[in-house]
Amino acid sequence: MNKTIMLAAVMLTAGTASAQNAPAGSAERGQKIFMHQMCFNCHGTVGQGGGVAGPKLAPNPFPWAAFAQQVRKPRAEMTPYSEKNLSEQDLADAYAYLVSIKPGPAAKDVPLLSGF
Ligand code: HEC
Repeated sequence: MNKTIMLAAVMLTAGTASAQNAPAGSAERGQKIFMHQMCFNCHGTVGQGGGVAGPKLAPNPFPWAAFAQQVRKPRAEMTPYSEKNLSEQDLADAYAYLVSIKPGPAAKDVPLLSGF
């Protein structure tokens, strides 16, 4: 099975359970880890994505299992993070940070953008 299919399988089985299955984490600490570990460099400070460097991560991050799998064993170009450099707690905190990011308002709900 190639990595893409494996990831898809993990995502399907993790599916609707998503954030509920994630270990408890601190979004506040996770934000620091996200910066300190350079995730922001490729994925943007609020996980908005960095163009060619890395895809958007938030809002609505991957389910926990797929997220953890990607960070430990990236499916393509991303740098892998072993437990030596990023503990399970760090990973859980970084995930809590991404889960805490709320989507911005829709363009139609921003008064300055009405009429465009
Ligand atoms: C050097 C740039 C780089 C850094 C640093 C980086 N990523 Fe990534 N990330 C990528 C790229 C490129 C992908 C696309 C898939 C791949 O290459 O494996 C990706 C994919 C992902 C995905 C899957 C999202 C998707 O839609 O494919 C997650 C989740 C993720 N990264 C989390 C993280 C976290 C958390 C950190 C910090 C601990 C981090 N990344 C650091 C480049 C990076």
